[in-house]
Amino acid sequence: MTTLTEFISTTKPQIMAQLDALTGFNLSDHRNHLANAIRHTLLAPSKCFRGLLVCATQTLFSDDTTTILPVACAIEMLHTGSLIYDDLPCMDNDTLRRGKACCHCVFGEDITILAAYTLQCYAYEILNQPMAVEPKNQLAMMHFISQACGIHGIAGGQTLDLIQARSPEKISPVETIHNLKTGATIVACVCIPAILHGADAQTRTTLNHVGNHLGLLFQIVDDILDVTAESETLGKTANKDTEQNKFTYISELGLDGAKTEALRQAQSAKDHLDTLNQPNNLLYGFIDWAQTRIH
Ligand code: IPE
Ligand code: IPE
Ligand code: MG
Ligand code: MG
Ligand code: MG
Repeated sequence: MTTLTEFISTTKPQIMAQLDALTGFNLSDHRNHLANAIRHTLLAPSKCFRGLLVCATQTLFSDDTTTILPVACAIEMLHTGSLIYDDLPCMDNDTLRRGKACCHCVFGEDITILAAYTLQCYAYEILNQPMAVEPKNQLAMMHFISQACGIHGIAGGQTLDLIQARSPEKISPVETIHNLKTGATIVACVCIPAILHGADAQTRTTLNHVGNHLGLLFQIVDDILDVTAESETLGKTANKDTEQNKFTYISELGLDGAKTEALRQAQSAKDHLDTLNQPNNLLYGFIDWAQTRIH
């Protein structure tokens, strides 16, 4: 049985090497500036949680994780693009990301917006490339991931997050905001390998539930770390949420309440995973990782 640590130590370098190769545009004109802006955040030290999660879920269906690597890279690009936007002065107005100055602090807002935009376009270009799967399954994957990034996912959740921070009244439940801005892409990570392999409806539904609880857990812990960890450990600015009047599990339930809720989400994710009858699969490790992470 491969442990999560072993899995990460072999798979993460593969994802990072492929991200490096994919963005080695090597242009001889000033578009190099755009390429540098993209690589600045994409290749900076990160957990690579989503890319690794895609590869780990793939192991439920196949021993070969190399074929899914482009998908893992595309999801990391979509995620990194969302972080670059999230840090912009008009959004969370941050200066530190992945232990480095934010993209806009180094390359300016204009090139940074184009860098995040290019990451999104490029991710879809990669997802559209011929894959050794049934075309209808690849199309279904495209549909799923597009939804997870748009109004029913990241963009919708970020909209509610921003409007809520300026509103004196509660406009949506915190759970909805978190499910959209963070949960939807994590659901996509665990559902995509099942979709590509044409898994049965029951397996897909179960993985959807696992992803839902895991995604919410992931953002609750992000809220907790914002108030409990140091910027240096996080690689991003701590204590940002109160400063910006963000609606989080901390503002809603307090630190103890948020920790209890994280525990509850982790347990629910595991309960759903149990029904797959695949004991010791890597996804249990991802639930523990999301819960106990320190950055
Ligand atoms: C940060 O994501 C933004 C959230 C959705 C909480 P990660 O915590 O996965 O950040 P990286 O990718 O490791 O930098
Ligand atoms: C951002 O949530 C979620 C995204 C979809 C990018 P946060 O604003 O809490 O993420 P961090 O804390 O800046 O990484
Ligand atoms: Mg934000
Ligand atoms: Mg932020
Ligand atoms: Mg946060």
